[in-house]
Amino acid sequence: MTKETLTITDNRTGQTYEVPVAHDTINAMDLRQIKVNEGDFGMMSYDPGFKNTASTKSTITFIDGGKGILRYRGYPIEQLAEKSNFIETAYLTMFGELPTQAQYDEWEHDIRHHTFVHENIKQLMEAFRYDAHPMSMFISTVAALSTYYPEARNIDDPQARMKQVIRLIGKVPTIAAFSYRHTRGLPYVYPNNDLGYTENFLYMLDKMGQTDYEVNAVLARALDVLFMLHIDHEQNCGTATMRVIGSSHSDPYSSMAGAAAALFGPLHGGANEAVLRMLTEIGDVKNVPEFMEGVKNRERLLMGFGHRVYKNFDPRAKIIKNIADEVFEVTGRNPLLDIALELERIALEDDFFVQRNLYPNVDFYSGIIYQAMGFPVAMFPVLFAIPRTVGWLAQWQELLADKTQKIARPRQIFLGEDTRDFVAMADR
Ligand code: SDX
Repeated sequence: MTKETLTITDNRTGQTYEVPVAHDTINAMDLRQIKVNEGDFGMMSYDPGFKNTASTKSTITFIDGGKGILRYRGYPIEQLAEKSNFIETAYLTMFGELPTQAQYDEWEHDIRHHTFVHENIKQLMEAFRYDAHPMSMFISTVAALSTYYPEARNIDDPQARMKQVIRLIGKVPTIAAFSYRHTRGLPYVYPNNDLGYTENFLYMLDKMGQTDYEVNAVLARALDVLFMLHIDHEQNCGTATMRVIGSSHSDPYSSMAGAAAALFGPLHGGANEAVLRMLTEIGDVKNVPEFMEGVKNRERLLMGFGHRVYKNFDPRAKIIKNIADEVFEVTGRNPLLDIALELERIALEDDFFVQRNLYPNVDFYSGIIYQAMGFPVAMFPVLFAIPRTVGWLAQWQELLADKTQKIARPRQIFLGEDTRDFVAMADR
C-alpha cells in the first residue's frame, strides 16, 4: 500500500522528514519543521506570481490547461454557451446547481429589480473628466457603492452578503453603461426593467431619443454568451485579489473595486483593449511578419496570446471565434480579423510560440467582436468586469464559508541590510 506522504532529506543536516500529501499537494506549513538550528524560523517555499501555489480549495471552476478544459460547477463551458444564458449560469456559479424554474425566476427578478443606482452615484460619475477611462470610472464607482450600503460590512451575515451580491450583479451594467455614455458626452439612460439583463445593458448604452428602441436580438445573444464565458476562471489575478482583500473581512464593494483594479492590467483583463490597439498599430496583414519578428526579439508581447494555465487553446477563444461570424452578419466584418487570423496562423507554426505554448486566450478575439458591435476600445475591460462580478462574488462567498481560511499575509525572503546605527546628516 503506497503511503500518501513525501519524504524530504535535508542534506544540510542529514535529517529526513515525512510530510503528508493530499490532492497531490503538500501543506506549505509542513515545511516549517525543516531547520538547521532549533531557533530557526524553518523552511518556506518561494513562488513569485504564485505559479505553483494553491491558496484555497474550491468547487466553483475547473480548468485543465493541458487539455483546454473549462467547467463551471462541472458543466463544460461549451454546453453552457450553447444551451444556457448569463443569468442562469450566474446562478449555477453562485449556488453550485442549475436552478429550477422557480429559483431562476426569483433570481432573475431580484437582479432585474436592482439595476438602479442612487442619484448621488450618477452625480458622482458626472464629476469625472470628459475623457476619464471608463474602467477607472467603474472601479471608483463600485468602491463608492460601499458608502451607500454600510450593512455590507456585516460580512458574517449571509442575508446581508446575498443582498450585496444581488445589488452588485444588478448594478454593474448600469454603472458600465453610465461610464460609456459619460465618455460620449451623452445623457445617461436609466435601466428599463422590462428588458432582460444583457438587453437592458445594450438599451442603456445605445438608446437615444427613440420611444420604440429595439435591442438587436443577435447582438444581445452574442454578448450574453460572451458574458457567460467571462464569469469565472478560478484563481486568476483579479479573483485572487478579491480573496486577498476579502480575507481581511473588508466589505464586498471595496473588495470588488480591488479585483476590478487588478483586472484592468494589460497582462490580465486589460489585454482585450491592448489586443485592439496592437491590431490597429499593425494596420495591415503585410506588416504582420515584421511585427512578429519584434515579438520574437522580445521588443513586445503578442497581446491576447499565452496564459498561466492554458498550455493549449483557451476553450473560450474557440467559442468566441465562432460568435464573431454571427456578429459580423449584423455589423459587417471587422477587417482587423484578417490581421488577427494571420497572427494566429504564424504563432501556431513558429517555434518561438509553439515552444512556449502560446495560444490565443480569451482576450484575443473578444475585442474584435466588441469593436464591430460599436464599443470603443476603452470599454473592453469594463465588458470583462461585468460578468466577472459573478465569479468574484461566488469566490468571495466561498472564501467566507471556508473556516480554514485566514487573512492573506505572504512571507518574504529578506535580502536587505542587517541592523545598523543611524548616522547624523553631518556625518553622511
Ligand atoms: C487573462 O489567469 C487567468 O485565468 C486570466 C484570464 C481570466 O479569465 O481571468 O484567463 C484572463 O488575463 C488572459 C491573459 C490576457 N493577457 C494577455 O493576453 C497578455 C499577454 N500574455 C502574457 O502577458 C502572458 O502570457 C501571461 C501574463 C498571460 C501569462 O504569463 P506567465 O504565465 O507569467 O508566463 P511567462 O510570462 O512566464 O511566459 C513564459 C514565456 C516567457 O518567455 P521566456 O522568458 O521563457 O523565454 O513565454 C513568453 C515569456 O516571455 N510569453 C510571451 C507571451 N506570453 C508569454 N511572449 C510573447 N507574447 C506573449 N503574449
